Amino acid sequence: MELYSQAIARFQTLLAQARAADLREPTAMSLATVNGDGQPSVRTVLLKHVDERGFVFYTNTTSRKGGQLGVRSRAALCFFWQPLMQQVLVEGAVAPVGNAEADAYWATRPRDSQLGAWASLQSQPLVERAVLERRYAQYEREFANRPIPRPPHWSGYRVIPDMIEFWSSRPGRLHERERYYREQDRWQRMLIYP
Ligand SMILES: Cc1cc2nc3c(=O)[nH]c(=O)nc-3n(C[C@H](O)[C@H](O)[C@H](O)COP(=O)(O)O)c2cc1C
Repeated sequence: MELYSQAIARFQTLLAQARAADLREPTAMSLATVNGDGQPSVRTVLLKHVDERGFVFYTNTTSRKGGQLGVRSRAALCFFWQPLMQQVLVEGAVAPVGNAEADAYWATRPRDSQLGAWASLQSQPLVERAVLERRYAQYEREFANRPIPRPPHWSGYRVIPDMIEFWSSRPGRLHERERYYREQDRWQRMLIYP
C-alpha cells in the first residue's frame, strides 16, 4: 500500500478506537487557520468525513475561520484522544467541498441543527441572546412543514494533507512520533524524536 493510503488507514483505525472509547465527541479536532498577517487562530470543529481525499468539516463560510480560509487556504488539525493517549496532526491545503456533497451531509442533520445554521450569524457580534432566539423562531416559522434548504453560507471544507503525524504515548516520555509527508509528489515517512 502506498504510504499515504497507509497513513489514512492508520488514522481511520485510531478514529474507530476513539469512537469505541467513552468519549462524548470522538471526532472533535482543533482547527488552526491564519489571517492575512500570519496571526493563527484555533477552535474545535467536528470531523464529518475522512478518506484519501482529505478531512472534511462543516461550518459557516462567512465565519471568522471561513474568512481566513478565503484569504489563506491552509489549515492544521490536531486530534488528541485522551483515553487512547494518541495525538494526530494534519497540515495541508484547504478546498471547499462541492455543493452536492454539502447537500448530502446537510440532509442528514437534525432539524434543530439546520435551523441553528440559518439563525446563527457565526462569529458576528450578538447584542443579546434573545436576538438569536428570535431569529431561530423566525426560521422555524418560515420553514414550517417543509424540508429546510442548506443556507448559502453553510458548507464544508476539506483539508488535503501534505503532512500527517502520529504521536503515541510511551513510558519514560520516550513517545513515538511518526511523520508521513509529501515531498515533490512522493510520500515519505520518518521517525521524529519526541
Ligand atoms: C466540541 C465542539 C464541536 C464543534 N463543532 C463545530 C463544527 O463542526 N463546526 C463549526 O462551525 N463550529 C463548531 N464548533 C464551534 C467552534 O469551536 C467555533 O466556536 C465556531 O466555529 C466559530 O469559530 P470562528 O469564529 O473561529 O469561525 C464546535 C465547538 C465545540 C466545543
